[in-house]
Amino acid sequence: MSAPPNDILLQFDRVAYRYPDGNAGLDGCSLDILRGSRNALLGANGSGKTTLFQHANGLLRPSGGTVRYAGQAVDYGRPGLRELRSRVGLVFQNPDRQLFSASVAEDVSFGPLNLGLDDDTVRRRVAAALAAVGLADIGERAVHHLSFGQKKRVCIAGVLAMQPELLLLDEPKAGLDPAMQADLLAILDDLHGQGMSILLSTHDVDFAYRWAEHIHIMAAGRCVASFPAGELPHRAAELAAAGLPLPAVIPLHARLAAQGLVPATPFPRSTDALLAMLPKAPQPKETPCTIA
Ligand SMILES: Nc1ncnc2c1ncn2[C@@H]1O[C@H](COP(=O)(O)OP(=O)(O)OP(=O)(O)O)[C@@H](O)[C@H]1O
Ligand SMILES: [Mg+2]
Repeated sequence: MSAPPNDILLQFDRVAYRYPDGNAGLDGCSLDILRGSRNALLGANGSGKTTLFQHANGLLRPSGGTVRYAGQAVDYGRPGLRELRSRVGLVFQNPDRQLFSASVAEDVSFGPLNLGLDDDTVRRRVAAALAAVGLADIGERAVHHLSFGQKKRVCIAGVLAMQPELLLLDEPKAGLDPAMQADLLAILDDLHGQGMSILLSTHDVDFAYRWAEHIHIMAAGRCVASFPAGELPHRAAELAAAGLPLPAVIPLHARLAAQGLVPATPFPRSTDALLAMLPKAPQPKETPCTIA
C-alpha cells in the first residue's frame, strides 16, 4: 500500500545529475522518505548515495527530474534553500568538507546563528549538541587539531544544533570507535523518539537490518529497491545485484531453523534476537547431597 502523499517528507522523482566532467551521479533516481521514519540507504561505492544526499538539502541541483520536500518542489532561490537547509540537516561523509571554523564551538554555532537565533539560544543549543556527542569539554579547541572521529562528532553536533526535521547522515559510523558508534545509535534513537525523520547511508548491512524501518538500495545512480526492513530476507537477489551481502543473522537463522532449533518465523533482525529464540537449556536437576 502506498503512503498518503502528506506522509512523504522527501521525494526524489526521476532525479538525474551529471557532474561537470560528464560523470553521471544520479540517473533517474526515485525514492520516498516518510515523515518520522528511520531509513538506511545501502549501495556499493559510487552508486550515488552522497550525490543523493547533496540533492536532498539543495547543495546540488538536478539536471533532470524533481526533488520535493513536504510536497513542494525545492525552490533553488536563496530564501528557498535557506528554508530547506533549516529543515534538512546533512552530516557529510568527509568531516573535512564540512568543518571550516577555527574552533569547535564556532563551527557548531554557525548553523544556529545563520537561522537568526539569539545568542542565548545559540549558546544553549551548542552546549547541548556538544554534550550529546560527548564533546562537552572541547568547545575551545582548534578544529584542525582534532582526530577524524572527533571531527565527525563535531559535524554531527553542528547539525543537531540546527534541530532539523530530517537528519541526513552520510556514513555516520565510518571512523567512529565502538563506544561512539553505540553513543551515536542512542542519539539517533532519542532523536527519532522525538519525531525526527532520519536517512543514513551505510555499508553495514547488519546494522541497517537491525536499525532501519525502511531500506533503500542504490545502484548506478538509481534507487533500485525500497522496502520495509522486515522484507530483507526475501531481497537477497536485489542485495547481491547491488554488490551487498545479506546480514549475517539471516543465513544463521535459516540454518538453525532448518535443523528445527528455532522457529522459522518471525525473522530475527539481530544476533541477540536470534539467541533469544533458542530454547533455554534444561537446568541440571539438583541432586540431594548425601553424606555417607
Ligand atoms: N565531484 C565529482 N566529480 C565527478 N564525478 C563524481 C564526483 N563525485 C562523485 N562522482 C561520481 O558520481 C558517482 C556517484 O558517486 P557518489 O559519491 O554519490 O557515490 P557513493 O554511493 O556515495 O559512494 P561511496 O560509497 O564511495 O561513498 C560515481 O560514479 C562517482 O565517481
Ligand atoms: Mg559517498
